[in-house]
Amino acid sequence: MSFPDKRLRRLRRTPALRRLVAETSLSIDDLVAPLFIREGIESPVPISSLSGVVQHSRQSLIKEVEELNSIGIPGVILFGVPEHKDAEGSEAWNDEGIVQLALRDCRDAIGEEMVLIADLCIDEYTDHGHCGVIRKDGSVDNDETIQIYGKIAQAQAQAGADIVAPSGMMDGQVRAIRSALDEGHFEEVPILAYSAKYASGLYGPFRDAVDVTITDGGDRKSYQQDWRNGREALAEIRADIEEGADMIMIKPSIPYLDVLSEARKVTDLPIAAYHVSGEYAMIKAAAEQNLIDGSAVALEQLTAIKRAGADFILTYLAREIAEVL
Ligand code: PBG
Repeated sequence: MSFPDKRLRRLRRTPALRRLVAETSLSIDDLVAPLFIREGIESPVPISSLSGVVQHSRQSLIKEVEELNSIGIPGVILFGVPEHKDAEGSEAWNDEGIVQLALRDCRDAIGEEMVLIADLCIDEYTDHGHCGVIRKDGSVDNDETIQIYGKIAQAQAQAGADIVAPSGMMDGQVRAIRSALDEGHFEEVPILAYSAKYASGLYGPFRDAVDVTITDGGDRKSYQQDWRNGREALAEIRADIEEGADMIMIKPSIPYLDVLSEARKVTDLPIAAYHVSGEYAMIKAAAEQNLIDGSAVALEQLTAIKRAGADFILTYLAREIAEVL
């Protein structure tokens, strides 16, 4: 062999050669669009920290879902913003709650052409903003909360959710939800478990989107993961699989590609990654200031998430990337 060895560089010479040897590709089929549905509004409300994303009215949500369907996006995940919040988040399992109504609307509009995922948590529905019910001392009551999650799963399945996705990081939530679904004769409804969800600084814009402020300046560090830990994520993932998760999720995405790639080695179940609100907002803000080429960086980041081992990605970029692909 001659020196220097030019084999790798030779294969980068033309776009067609690069395409031929590309190891990873991002496809529209890999994208799930997160959508917000707000009770009691007539027209969509822009979310200032998430440029281009809105809180939908029932009407505008149906239109958005139809458009996403027509461009080939295979799934959406719905988050509700209720008019009334209380200590237990009771609107989350009300049959007439906003997400249940939206699930029925979407099902009527598009049939089974798209996968409807319901985020399953109570933080958008509680007046204190935590993902679980809280005791007098302010701590989250894990075991009480997972009973509530079971009721929510049944309401969402009843309203037509194809998948329920628990995001509250309570211990035993997957098992409790699985048994509630089975008891309600929803054996066919799979669970997409947010298994490794970190207490990230990147959820800020999302909390604006769902009008959540955690009471007394609190945080979620007692139930979401510490970002110093990687192996712990694998323990969380194994526990969720053991409890019956059909698919698992890592969240956020870009700072946790190491976790994603390790997760790929421990399970053959589908793995999702959530490119979260702060990750989206950073790309948008930098692009708006002409510091980066926004769509190039978006494509690079989403492809990297696939390269690290994700099967699909929940992303606010879904629509615009689908238009590029
Ligand atoms: C909790 C939930 C959060 C997100 C999805 N589900 C927020 C949180 O844990 O504080 C964040 C998603 C994002 O930032 O895009 N129900």
